[in-house]
Amino acid sequence: MTTATTLAAPSVTQTQNLIGGKWQPSKSGKTFNVYNPSTTEVIAQVAESDAADVDVAVAAARKAFQTWSKTSPRERSALLYKLADLIEKNAEELAALETLNNGKPIAETTNADLPLTISTFRYYAGWADKIYGDIVPVASNDFFVYTRKEAVGVCGQIIPWNFPLLMLAWKFGPALAAGNTIVLKPAEQTPLSALRVGELALEAGFPPGVINIVNGFGESAGDALVKHPDVDKIAFTGHYETAQIIMAAASKTLKRLTFELGGKSPNVVYADADLDLAVQGAMTGIFFNQGEVCCAGSRLFVEQSAHDQFIEKFKAAAESHKVGNPFDPDTRQGAQVSEEQYNKILSYIDLGKQEANCITGGEPACDNGWFVKPTIFTDVRNDMRIAQEEIFGPVVSVIPFKDHDDLLSQANETVYGLAAAVWTQDIKKAFKLAHSVRAGTVWVNCYNTFDPAAPFGGYKFSGHGRECGRDAIDNYTETKTVWMNTN
Ligand code: NAI
Ligand code: MG
Repeated sequence: MTTATTLAAPSVTQTQNLIGGKWQPSKSGKTFNVYNPSTTEVIAQVAESDAADVDVAVAAARKAFQTWSKTSPRERSALLYKLADLIEKNAEELAALETLNNGKPIAETTNADLPLTISTFRYYAGWADKIYGDIVPVASNDFFVYTRKEAVGVCGQIIPWNFPLLMLAWKFGPALAAGNTIVLKPAEQTPLSALRVGELALEAGFPPGVINIVNGFGESAGDALVKHPDVDKIAFTGHYETAQIIMAAASKTLKRLTFELGGKSPNVVYADADLDLAVQGAMTGIFFNQGEVCCAGSRLFVEQSAHDQFIEKFKAAAESHKVGNPFDPDTRQGAQVSEEQYNKILSYIDLGKQEANCITGGEPACDNGWFVKPTIFTDVRNDMRIAQEEIFGPVVSVIPFKDHDDLLSQANETVYGLAAAVWTQDIKKAFKLAHSVRAGTVWVNCYNTFDPAAPFGGYKFSGHGRECGRDAIDNYTETKTVWMNTN
């Protein structure tokens, strides 16, 4: 572990469920442990909920929906702005809490997670009074036809542990702006920042029951939310296998479903690219957030003629990447979120060593905590398991390619379709890739740029629907068509 300046770890203020405006333990009284991944110490014991707790939370959300869905849009906007202000006021504490519970560097929580969370709330505060339908030009003049955009109802939101606050903001922002009420189930690994936001939401003045937070595991609390007959919609981010389970479980009640799932995104470097910039892009693409990013550039396609030169620079950059104490402001890569995730990554590294060539990393970093060294595999073929399966860690597969056709057939040869990137100085190559790759986001000479206004989501196994932007408002509204006989 590095021992440079260490910011004080924040105190944990809340470990219970938020239901109907009140903090309460689970009905069973059970709790589960929450860890600091950089030390493996237990930092909190959080209420462990099951179907009985979900029932009460859904009832509270249903009751609140009757009035919340009818509040004036300006009122909802003002509350969202107020919550954004409170998050901003407490940004240092929230950034530290996120670093403590997730293991990601304080430089990232301070400069990425918190500003994006705040701007997402402000962006959707701006949408609340700009959601409206159309006047519809039907054939007959005997009718006046118009549409209304109405809230979907009670929304179950199930989020993962890699960006706990940002995933909360992407889900809360559009849902609340459109007049829905919420039952959130945070990831069991990282519930603490959501609970702090729950406190701030009460302080902002959100009415009881509009925002409910139920802690617990996916197979119990999450499953109960998915199956609940009085939940109108589930928004989920996580693994596609979980989404398959959710889809099947939700089929009985025909809930609306939106999914933001994983990826194995191609990050493409042409020989004519600015190679230093492309190396930085490859670094950000795979090592940002310890590689625990759904749109990580985990398949790095490098044009053959530039391969060796690129790899030399990339390896040097990976070896100078600072891994360690996430509270050190100079740290660029912190700890993996959990022992389970750490073991999963190490087992993929073992597999990779049998299939391909590990040129750097390939082992744990630091003495304690769930740290993994930045790891690069070369001589990878696109059909190998390390190139096809989501590792969700700081592990990249480098695959050489000959020309555009060779590249494209390989880039699209994956079940996923979340993101892609291309590094080139030739605008034709950039357009060609951007328009032919089957992915929800394409970055040209950049990587991992995000904005709440820009839709995000995936093709194929990477999801259903888009979050952010206007698209997310559509996810949280029903269209009602009104026919008036004017004759
Ligand atoms: P997961 O998909 O199981 O968990 C995500 C969320 O879903 C958590 O809140 C969890 O409690 C909940 N959940 C789990 N099973 C559920 C069920 N049957 N019904 C309702 N909710 C359920 O992901 P997990 O197990 O944490 O990670 C496994 C892998 O998933 C990772 O290694 C990574 O490859 C991928 N993943 C992808 C993410 C993304 O952003 N697309 C985020 C997190 C994980
Ligand atoms: Mg799971």
